[in-house]
Amino acid sequence: MDTYTGFSPAAVMTLTVTEKESKAVKADLLALPFNTKELKKEAGSLLESYGIDESALGDFKGAAGDLTILYRPASSKGALRIALLGLGEGKSSDDYRKAAESLSRKAVEMHLGILAIDCSAIGSWAKQSKQRPDAVAGLLAEGVLYGAYRFDHLKSGKLDKEKKKDQDKPKTVTELVLMVTAEHAAAVEKGANAGIVVGSCQNITRDLVNLPGNFCSAKNLAGAAVESGKRAGYEVTVFDKEKITELGMGGLLAVNKGSQEPPTFTILDYKPKGKSKKVIALVGKGVTFDSGGISIKPSQGMDEMKSDMSGAACVIGTLEAVALLGLPIRVIGLIPATDNMPSGTAQTPGDVITTMSGITVEVGNTDAEGRLILADALTYAKKEYDPDVIIDLATLTGACIVALGYSVAGLFSNDDELAGEIFKSGQTTGEKVWRLPLWDEYDELIKSDVADVHNTGGRGAGTITAAKFLEKFIDGHKHWAHIDIAGPAFSAKGGGKTPGGTGFGVRLMVDLLKAWA
Ligand code: BES
Ligand code: MN
Ligand code: ZN
Repeated sequence: MDTYTGFSPAAVMTLTVTEKESKAVKADLLALPFNTKELKKEAGSLLESYGIDESALGDFKGAAGDLTILYRPASSKGALRIALLGLGEGKSSDDYRKAAESLSRKAVEMHLGILAIDCSAIGSWAKQSKQRPDAVAGLLAEGVLYGAYRFDHLKSGKLDKEKKKDQDKPKTVTELVLMVTAEHAAAVEKGANAGIVVGSCQNITRDLVNLPGNFCSAKNLAGAAVESGKRAGYEVTVFDKEKITELGMGGLLAVNKGSQEPPTFTILDYKPKGKSKKVIALVGKGVTFDSGGISIKPSQGMDEMKSDMSGAACVIGTLEAVALLGLPIRVIGLIPATDNMPSGTAQTPGDVITTMSGITVEVGNTDAEGRLILADALTYAKKEYDPDVIIDLATLTGACIVALGYSVAGLFSNDDELAGEIFKSGQTTGEKVWRLPLWDEYDELIKSDVADVHNTGGRGAGTITAAKFLEKFIDGHKHWAHIDIAGPAFSAKGGGKTPGGTGFGVRLMVDLLKAWA
């Protein structure tokens, strides 16, 4: 197994909140954000004050994320590059996040390290989007980190001619300067710092998702959790194969049977300093590479199955954020991890296995492996902690992509209130979820003739039958939710977005946990 220790995944970006006059701010790029309404009224005169002719506005319309770079006369004081930045209508959180993302993506492309945003209008942005100024500042900071993200840890640059030229230039945004009026300075600073935490933790998740299988064994994934615990100050325990065997985690062991790499089961435990308001368990699917096993997948696109530990990566990123933010709730992360490989020792279709719960499973298809390892983790969560809420996140089914596409996750819950809260967080954070039913009718589809339950349900309702399978292992827990992130966790090349891991679920979970804190 290859290991890579050369990168510290947390992006470092300094925050400066300043009340300085804008022409005195030192930056490589200074962004002037406008919503579509303000644009007509204000942009022209503002540009003139920077020594740029009003006509430079050109076709800039101010849609969220629209960006035009203009240059000031070389003799000007302060930043020489001005970015006109569109906020759209400025009514939704997404407008601000999108704008900041597009701005920093451009800054990285242009090798500009110091990025300033004129936030003197943050009071009115807050009103327009019906949230507090600190929240808006958080969105901007989060967006800047998200947009600046690149996965280039595995590039040597040896074949890159351009690289030589740009070698000494900044590779990412190193400093974010937010220009404010005195009235909002404190709120902006507080909000932006929280946004930086969430944004950088989401990028940690993306790094883990992007690590290929040969760099990301179950042991390495557990190691990443240990490192995160050290950085953020929470406890991490890793069970090895012996302990997993002792606990009788038959699902995890069965999936691991074909592998050269032993499984791990990792427990991340964040305990707040004061009294904890709630205990939440977050379970993340940690299949480090899913070949399908003996029920092997077609080779087309199989490489993307390095992302089959996106649920686990989301749990690690979320715990790091929760710990750094110091939320007053105990959050326990549980990560069953293994790859799913075919070999002479692999489990075979038709095998009957016994999970930790004692429930037996007929493994009709070895490619429905996620639910087998999650079964044990759900059993462990309930038995060991009996938490107030259990939420699992998993790249569980291709069927979920068929149902909801690539930008929305499937949501299942036995608790309407919990489902409502998760849906709401999805709307707030732009990490959208859509609920699907857990009706009893679907149980028929996963009946087995030889075991207690079957691990696949046939062609119809594939994402629902997977959820119904998981439901058998929560042992009557009343507040459980399952989030199938198969679609939104990973964006394929050419989809317009930054390719690879999206970090989906970190913002969603942090928003949800904050609401309970
Ligand atoms: N990891 C896959 C699901 C997946 C597919 C995630 C595409 C992301 C993108 C999962 O383990 C799987 O293989 N599911 C099977 C289940 C089937 C055999 C019942 C599927 O969706 O085809
Ligand atoms: Mn699979
Ligand atoms: Zn899988």
